[in-house]
Amino acid sequence: MITLNYNNVDASVIGKDHGLNLEKEFSNYKNDIEKIIKDLNQRKDKPGQWLQWMNLGYNEETVWYVKEFAAMVKGRFDNVLVLGIGGSALGGIAVTEALLKPYWNLLTPEQRGGMPRIFFLDNIDPDQITGLLQVLDLKRTLVNVITKSGSTAETMSQYMIVKNLLEQQLGDDYRKNIVATTDQKTGILRQLADQEGYKTFVVPDDVGGRFSVFSAVGLLPFALVGIDIEEMMNGVKDMDLALKNTDIHNNIAAQNALIHYLMDTKKGKNLSVMMPYSSRLKYISDWYVQLWAESLGKEENNKGKKVNCGPTPIKALGATDQHSQIQLYNEGPNDKVINFIRVEEFDNTLEIPHIFEYTGIGYLGGKTINQLINAEADSTRVALSDYKRPTVTISLPKVNAYNVAQLLYMLEVQTAIAGELYNINTFNQPGVEQAKNYTYALMGRAGYEESAKALKEKMEKQK
Ligand code: PA5
Repeated sequence: MITLNYNNVDASVIGKDHGLNLEKEFSNYKNDIEKIIKDLNQRKDKPGQWLQWMNLGYNEETVWYVKEFAAMVKGRFDNVLVLGIGGSALGGIAVTEALLKPYWNLLTPEQRGGMPRIFFLDNIDPDQITGLLQVLDLKRTLVNVITKSGSTAETMSQYMIVKNLLEQQLGDDYRKNIVATTDQKTGILRQLADQEGYKTFVVPDDVGGRFSVFSAVGLLPFALVGIDIEEMMNGVKDMDLALKNTDIHNNIAAQNALIHYLMDTKKGKNLSVMMPYSSRLKYISDWYVQLWAESLGKEENNKGKKVNCGPTPIKALGATDQHSQIQLYNEGPNDKVINFIRVEEFDNTLEIPHIFEYTGIGYLGGKTINQLINAEADSTRVALSDYKRPTVTISLPKVNAYNVAQLLYMLEVQTAIAGELYNINTFNQPGVEQAKNYTYALMGRAGYEESAKALKEKMEKQK
């Protein structure tokens, strides 16, 4: 199991101005946490609660269908191209970066065990898209278009471009190169996919994009490149079981949620840094940033009171960002909680050769890079505590399907518990609608004419 060490947020380590009396706080919040966990588990099956993501680990049917499809197309494609944005892409990127061999797309087919390369187009940069389409042989590419709403402008415009090219190159057969993951009944992509006869997978009801990594949104791309999705589901189930424990002393998601909440509301530390000491886990931070930001950044609480709450998430990478951000974290404003992620055992052990023995770098000879990266994680954590900066450390025994799934699921539950502590709606995102509507207006979507007029006036003033 992954573990959480929170000693360095305690007042006994970083002093009472910046630290928490955790024993007291855990006992103060014991009943609230118990109620929150019970309540989440009771509400999770009710429609409209947006908590179906808590059931995804047990969805054997999806695992079966995804594996069946992956087996069916095995060997037919050299590439998988995922089209999607936000919650429809970030989990996929985070997990494939963590679990595939590094530099996967540069390996030979033999080195990849016959599995395809994988690319995610999660933006609408014309140069990036053009560049990717120039290097991909679309005839040998399986395109997985993912959008829950079925109408997201970024994803659908990518899809329109790629579908057109596929049709030009493959004639009527192009349909075999497209698989759509979308809502079961509604949305433009659902309509198109049914009309065109694409293979489809479903984003289940009451699962928001940022909580969808363990649905077909993530599982399909993972299975297509040979990631062990059953092992991932085992990780989710075991973590789910552990996090059903209503005692704060035994529930790491509740502990970290409460720590972040109290650090924000009592100690003014409203920035949450995610800093894995592992390049393979780098994109877990991107995924976490979206999860934390879209879920917790809210204008109103559940009582309709204006609160404008939400700790700002920041991504960092150890040891790289010790040479970029740590100066600020040690000596700048004491307004952050830093989440270290530490890997106990790497897949490879890399020894530093005994050369340059009589120079200032001779001490490195005979040690391993593994020792160095974890020594740097420890040193940075202790140095931060010298500066009275709170840190927590999440430890993964190894980077594998089981542990990475546990980590993601733990962070999802942590986010849901934090949302309850802030008393906000964790699962909506009203704040992204305004700019979306303006974009529709600017791009001439029918029904947005009035909005276009108002927008143009505002833009004129802002020139
Ligand atoms: O978490 C979310 O709900 C969002 O980030 C969505 O995933 C994102 O906006 C993409 O939406 P869709 O899947 O409908 O294209």
